[in-house]
Amino acid sequence: LGLLQRNTLGIESYAEQAIVISKSEQIPLLLQDIKAHGLPWQVLGGGSNVVLPSVLPGITLLIDIAGKEVLSSDRTETLIRVGAGEHWHDFVQWTLAQGFPGMENLALIPGTVGASPIQNIGAYGLEVAHFIENVQAFDTEKNGFVTLSNRECEFAYRDSYFKQNPNRFIITQVTFKLPKAWAPKLTYAELAKQFSNQSPTPLEIFNAVCAIRSSKLPDPKVLGNAGSFFQNPIVSEAQCTELANQYPAIVSFPDAVGQRKLAAGWLIDQCGFKGKRIGPVGVYDKQALVLVNYGGGSAQDILGLAKQIQDKVQETFGVQLQIEPNIF
Ligand code: FAD
Ligand code: EPU
Repeated sequence: LGLLQRNTLGIESYAEQAIVISKSEQIPLLLQDIKAHGLPWQVLGGGSNVVLPSVLPGITLLIDIAGKEVLSSDRTETLIRVGAGEHWHDFVQWTLAQGFPGMENLALIPGTVGASPIQNIGAYGLEVAHFIENVQAFDTEKNGFVTLSNRECEFAYRDSYFKQNPNRFIITQVTFKLPKAWAPKLTYAELAKQFSNQSPTPLEIFNAVCAIRSSKLPDPKVLGNAGSFFQNPIVSEAQCTELANQYPAIVSFPDAVGQRKLAAGWLIDQCGFKGKRIGPVGVYDKQALVLVNYGGGSAQDILGLAKQIQDKVQETFGVQLQIEPNIF
């Protein structure tokens, strides 16, 4: 099966064999079969955070489990169980339409609900971990379905227990808890500025987030990309102060006690990569953290450019950039 339309970087890739999973009940027998034949396997959601090789060996599971079910809704909170194959942005839009606000800052993030816990998707001052009650998955080590509580998911910035244990869990459903008490989350500077003298509605924030995203990030339908290609590096306060003495314009944000998060986009921008093109791939001209595929670029092309950027940033700032998408 050709996967050109199933990875937002637009890499030409083929799955040796692809199987659509529309019901979780399909998984146990299928995995038994895969193991019995010693086949390699992998899971693909919407393909918006992956770097694919030209051929994906063995079995590729395409997660298509649907369903949105309100489990309970009382005065304090709403619990909603959602199939892993549901489209993330549509789900966020649906929650607002149902009168369950909270996730509006996470609008327009591409991909599926099932992938949202993997790297703990985050944007505009919020992370999905804030709303996840638990995650249902097939554990291929235990050979059975498991439910991981929010704490067991070990969520952190762009990280989770699932990401720490690659190719172990197949997420089938995610249960969200949306508190009834709502207040706008306006920590992101552009949102704060836009709504400085008003109290916006959830829908107004949703629309503002969509507009900001569209102005900064390339639409994968037009230009292949996987969003941010690197994580924002977390350094000690001391290292940040040292860097700020040398580079007063450096962009950083508060993080855990004693730590700061650096804007990787700024570091890459300063190294002169913004808008640079190398063959079929390049660095987006409006956001240096985004690598783009103009067409025909392979995993090698993208990873070659990423290595050049990592080396230059390391040499200039002494900071190691970690790749964000999953390299298959
Ligand atoms: P895929 O790319 O298909 O898979 C990602 C990883 O998760 C793979 O390792 C895959 O094996 C695994 N996986 C997927 N589904 C399952 C499942 N059901 N069970 C087990 N493993 C699974 N991310 C952010 O956090 N914040 C952003 O603001 C953001 N903006 C983006 C903007 C653009 C334009 C693009 C292209 C990407 C952006 N991303 C962002 C990254 C991406 O949207 C998220 O990582 C998203 O959650 C990926 O979902 P997906 O379904 O496409 O996952
Ligand atoms: N910057 C530059 N030059 C650039 C890009 C950025 O100087 O070319 C500086 C700017 O000063 C800007 C700062 O970096 O203020 C931060 O940039 P931006 O607000 O665009 O966010 P980001 O840190 O680059 C992160 C996430 C995004 C998320 C946005 C919004 C990571 C790795 N990326 O990007 O997530 O949408 O914040 O909250 O944490 C993704 O993970 O794929 C992704 C797109």
